[in-house]
Amino acid sequence: MTAHPGGPLKGEAVLPGDKSISHRALIFGGLARGQTRIRNLLTADDVMRTAAALRGFGLSVEREGEEIVVEGGPWQSPDHMIYCGNSGTGVRLLMGAAAGQGVAVSFEGDASLRVRPMERVLEPLRDMGLEGTSTEGHLPVSLSAGSLRAITYRLPKASAQLKTAVLLAGLGAEGDTVIEEPILCRDHTERMLPAFGAELVIEEMGEGRKLTLPGRQQLKGAKVTVPGDPSSAAFLLVAGAILSGSEITLPGVLINETRIGFIETLREMGAQVSLMNEREEGGEPIADLHVRSSALKAIHLGPERAPAQIDEYPILAVAAAFAEGTTRFEGLDELRVKESDRLAATAALLTENGVTCRTGEDWLEIDGGTPKGGGLVKTHHDHRIAMSSLILGLGAAEPVTVDDCEMIATSFPNFAGLMASLGANIKEHV
Ligand code: S3P
Repeated sequence: MTAHPGGPLKGEAVLPGDKSISHRALIFGGLARGQTRIRNLLTADDVMRTAAALRGFGLSVEREGEEIVVEGGPWQSPDHMIYCGNSGTGVRLLMGAAAGQGVAVSFEGDASLRVRPMERVLEPLRDMGLEGTSTEGHLPVSLSAGSLRAITYRLPKASAQLKTAVLLAGLGAEGDTVIEEPILCRDHTERMLPAFGAELVIEEMGEGRKLTLPGRQQLKGAKVTVPGDPSSAAFLLVAGAILSGSEITLPGVLINETRIGFIETLREMGAQVSLMNEREEGGEPIADLHVRSSALKAIHLGPERAPAQIDEYPILAVAAAFAEGTTRFEGLDELRVKESDRLAATAALLTENGVTCRTGEDWLEIDGGTPKGGGLVKTHHDHRIAMSSLILGLGAAEPVTVDDCEMIATSFPNFAGLMASLGANIKEHV
């Protein structure tokens, strides 16, 4: 795909459903007795892998008109390896759920997922009594059937995948699972579990929280409406901010505070982003987002800002490339183990397009201005690197090409179509 400089972008775009909430709605539905009906499920590759995984555990997931219907029930040990494609969220949440259901299963993934760390999830599950092995810390991972006992677990990193995996395992364990979360990370699991009838006690603990989940709980089917994905909105907001004369509205986007750190960041950089018509849907806050183009200025952000915008650093780096001055982002160590080494891939995408930047083990510095563009970016199987590069190309002096656009379908299948509907010139090479 090549993004050609142009603009302005104008109009309204309805974003696909949130990826984190979509995975959870499917998995919680699979764990529940009775029917779960999901509206606006993200039908992207990552989420479809989770749906296929549930079928592998003997459950039914079907489309009925506008809704996806999950018939939950007891999980069976699959007769084949469960393939999670590119999805870290899918595999890590399913590991916890399967452990709690006492089934034997092996998980596998694509080239990108196969190099991501899995021991972080296996360690607490082993403390709960699970017998599980990884392949030198990575996939394939195999879990043996067995029963679990509850643990008290202090999250060693601000990871919602880890937190959720332990909670889902805890649903099937004997006793109260207690999670201490010193730094708050996305809390969709905690919001959604009670909607499925679960008992969960949440207490404030300094900057974070303490969660207590009684074991041997049976979830009940629920109705879930998935809000628009703020992580997808981020690409459009940055495009709208950097392309002069732009004005975009994005209705019905999730504005959970554990997810929208990037909106605060963009505003601090001078972007004109507003949240309109704030309301609540299914236990999550949503709003219509509006962006108008404006001059951006550089910003310095410490590590405390990372958890609420961890997936948005590549596109924030693109915003910084258009800002006046030098931007510095710190606390980026987790970016090294995302769908790619995102810190290296982000720095490479900037350098390839004439933007000067510097990186350390966990930080990134970007000298802003008007990016030259003209680069051919290696995406390393990473959807967010692909989309960030294309947004840079819309505002650069010369077009930007990505080596592979297939991965965009893991989170934002209609990205190019939606961008075109707002006036962007992004062409796929066939
Ligand atoms: C997610 C948690 C985050 C995030 C990922 C989705 C989730 O990962 O980067 O895109 O849905 O729980 P970590 O748990 O590794 O921080």
